[in-house]
Amino acid sequence: MEDFMKLVRERYSERRFDRSREVESEKLAQLLEAARLAPTACNDQAWRIYVLGGQSGEQTTRAATRSYFHAPLHLLLCAVDDQAWRRSTDGFSTADIDIGIVGTHIVLAAEAQELKSCIICAFDPDVLRKEVPLPAEVRPVMLLAIGYPSERSAPGPRHSVRKSLDELVRSV
Ligand SMILES: Cc1cc2nc3c(=O)[nH]c(=O)nc-3n(C[C@H](O)[C@H](O)[C@H](O)COP(=O)(O)O)c2cc1C
Repeated sequence: MEDFMKLVRERYSERRFDRSREVESEKLAQLLEAARLAPTACNDQAWRIYVLGGQSGEQTTRAATRSYFHAPLHLLLCAVDDQAWRRSTDGFSTADIDIGIVGTHIVLAAEAQELKSCIICAFDPDVLRKEVPLPAEVRPVMLLAIGYPSERSAPGPRHSVRKSLDELVRSV
C-alpha cells in the first residue's frame, strides 16, 4: 500500500514533456495492457484506443486542442456507445465512466514506469474526426498525453489544491 500511495501522491499532470525522448514500445505495450485489464460495466469493454504517435500524432493533437504540451505520444480513448452498458431504469450509460477508469489505469501505469501524463478533454471532437479515421460509432472522449518529463517539469498550480475529506465525505 505504501508504494501505491507514493505513486498516487507523486503523480501530477505533466505539461512540460521532454520533446526529444520517445516512449519505448515495451512501455507503451504495458500501458495498453493496463487499459485492457480495466473493469467496465458488465465487462462490456465498450472502448477503443487510437495510438497517435510521430509527426501525424503531433499534427492531430495540435489541431484539436490548445492543451498541446509537446508529448511524444497521445492516446485517444473513445467510447463505443452502442456496446456500453445502460441502466434499465433510466437508460443511463456507463460509457464515459468506463473510459475514465481505463484512462486512470493508463495514467497510473505510466507513473509506475517513470513516465508522466496529462488527461485532456478540452479538444474539438470534430477536428479529431477530420484527422483520425474514426468509425461513426466511435466517439472520442479523452486524450492522454504521455511522455518523459523535461527538466522543467513541475506540478501546475491546481495540483496542490485538494478539498479535505471532511468536505468531501459524508457518513450517513
Ligand atoms: C476529466 C479530466 C479532463 C482534463 N482535461 C484537461 C485539459 O483539457 N487540459 C489540461 O491541461 N488539463 C486537463 N486535465 C488535468 C486537470 O486540470 C488536473 O488533473 C487538475 O487540475 C489537478 O491537477 P493534477 O492532475 O496535477 O493533480 C483534466 C483532468 C481530468 C480528470
